[in-house]
This record gives sequence, structure tokens and C-alpha cells, in this order.
Amino acid sequence: MTELNARFIDVGSTPARDMNFWPAMVIPKEDIDREMERLSDLDRPGNGRRVSSIVHPYATEPGLGLAPGIDVTINVLLPGEETVVIRRNSNQIAMCIEGSGDALIGADVIRFEKFDVWNTPSMMLYRYRNSGSERCVFLSYSNAPMLEKLEVHFVEEDPPVFAPAEGAGDAMAAIKRAREFADNFEIDESGARLMGYEYLIDIDVVPSRPLIWRWDTVAAQLDRVANLGKDYRGRRLYLLYNPATERRNGTSHSFFATIARYPGGTVDMPHRHSSAAINYYFEGLGKSTVEGQKFEWKAGDLMLSAPGWAVHNHGSRGDGFHALTIQDHPLHIAMESLIWQETLKDPVLKLGAEQGAQTNIGELVGVR
Ligand SMILES: [Fe+2]
Repeated sequence: MTELNARFIDVGSTPARDMNFWPAMVIPKEDIDREMERLSDLDRPGNGRRVSSIVHPYATEPGLGLAPGIDVTINVLLPGEETVVIRRNSNQIAMCIEGSGDALIGADVIRFEKFDVWNTPSMMLYRYRNSGSERCVFLSYSNAPMLEKLEVHFVEEDPPVFAPAEGAGDAMAAIKRAREFADNFEIDESGARLMGYEYLIDIDVVPSRPLIWRWDTVAAQLDRVANLGKDYRGRRLYLLYNPATERRNGTSHSFFATIARYPGGTVDMPHRHSSAAINYYFEGLGKSTVEGQKFEWKAGDLMLSAPGWAVHNHGSRGDGFHALTIQDHPLHIAMESLIWQETLKDPVLKLGAEQGAQTNIGELVGVR
């Protein structure tokens, strides 16, 4: 084997690297429809997965995606089809855009219909089934590109299933955790501590479950945010919150999903954040400006709408729009890298470590 030698690079006086934003882009509905047709016309693949990834022209291997850390796939299931079981350590959020189907995730069977949104937690066995008479199509977003860049994307197709031995849970509950015997003490009043190895291999568990946000439930609430009035300075949306993400306010551990309803004639203030955003517009039409470049879009278009730290704003046209936004916000909160500038006159805030940005919602709705 060839001997490996590390290089030493003197970086003391090297200027910080400039961010090289991937340009924002719209993938028109017509292109997505054409790819859905191509997937539908294939002979059934052996694993049942008619899946196509929508890849940005700037993406490089490994980890192709629509944003540097996010991939978006089109998934088609013809009537009667089912995919093989798979599990992966990436997490996923999906939205059904045509027909209906079942997501079998762990022990849950989640029936989904058009515009429903659900999450698939990492490492859960999952498969999809279309027992209806119409084609089923959904978009799925994941952090696979980031894990592939880290060379740690674990994927198993049709893995062996190990059922826990009967009574194993009770037996485990009766056993004290090894960490209870390990050291864990403060070394001074700053809060710094020393903890034994057992704390590294047995961290606190937060249940992570597949959840679904049904479109009819979400849609019934959206007027509350849509009708905050012309003077409202925030975004007119609901976060689809998964309690497993705790203070990171996500839908999965990597991403939040929000559903926005914008009435006609509404334009946001230009702003920026280190999280990257991908919008799927599923009703209406609108426009965006991203790093000075102007875009127009309509229902069925997908858009890399805010490359991380790119200045952007979106506005409605006509009677307004509905959008699903996926943004790698919880990931950045976990890494303490979520920086946010709510308007370009505001300071750059590190969200989660200092008081965040404010809107005028208090003036508009009063005390609740
Ligand atoms: Fe934004």
C-alpha cells in the first residue's frame, strides 16, 4: 500500500474563502411532468423504485442535489405497485403531489393524499405502496447529499429484519444504565464538566416517529396567517412541527417544512439566512428576487429559492400562492451555524444563542 503523507498548508494569512452561492433556479412544472411520464413508462424496476433526483447544474459528486446539502426526488408508484424495504441514516420529508398511497414506516401505515406532508425518520425500515387505481407521485427531500459528502451515508435495501426477543424491553428496563456508574461532575462554577465514556455511547433518547400533516387540516388553518393584513412584517406560513426536533423547530432533524398561503399583492422584505431553502409552489403564482436576479413562477414549479446566505425575497402575483418550503434550519441550529438577517438593515443574528428577530404580530393580533 502506498504510504500516505498529510500536507501542511500555512493558512494563517490566507483570506477567508468567499461563499460561492449556487444560483437560484426554477424547475418548471412542465419539466417535472415530463420526468413523471418517463418514470411511469419504465418497466417496473426490480426494487419497485421509480425515482429521479432533480440535480442542480452546479452540483458535484459525491452527494448530488438541488442545494449543496439537500436532494429532491420525484417518486412514482403505479397502481398496485410497492417498493422494497429500505433503511438509511438520512432523514426525509415528502409531499404527495398526485394520487394517494401508503407509507409503511416502522410499525406505522401512513395513508397520504395530495398535498399531505410526512417525515421518515432516519434508520426506520420503510416502503411505499399504491393500492389505489390512480398513479401516485410524491416529492421527497433528504440530507443524503450532505451525508455523502461526509462519506457516511448508510443505505440498506431489503435489509435483514431482526425482531427483538420477547421480553427484551422489560429485561433492558430492569438493567441500570452503565452511565449511572460513570463519573459526571462539574470542574468549576463555569458549568464545564467531566463525564465518563458511557455518556458518549448512551445518550438521552428522544422518540423520533413518522408524523403526517394532512392538507385538509393545514389548509383549514392557513387563513389565520394569510389574513394578518398588509402591514404584517413576518412570513404568512405555518411550521409543520415535529416534537422530536425540540428547540430546533424542525419537521425532520435536518429540515423544517412550512406551508405558506400568501394573498395577492404581498411582497416580503429582502433578507438572508445560512439555511438553504427550496420552494414547491402548489397553487397560484408569484415572483422572487434572489441575489438581484428576478424569477417568475407558477403552481407546480419547484425552485432553489434561497441558496444559503443569498439575499432574497418573494412576492405573490394574481390571487396569491401556496408554497411548501424545505429549509435546513434545524441542522444549522444544531451546529450553531444558523445566522439570520431579517432585513438588510438588521444585525446578523445567531439564532438560538441570542434573542432572535421580531415581527409586529403583537400589534396586529394583540395579547393572546
Ligand atoms: Fe428566506
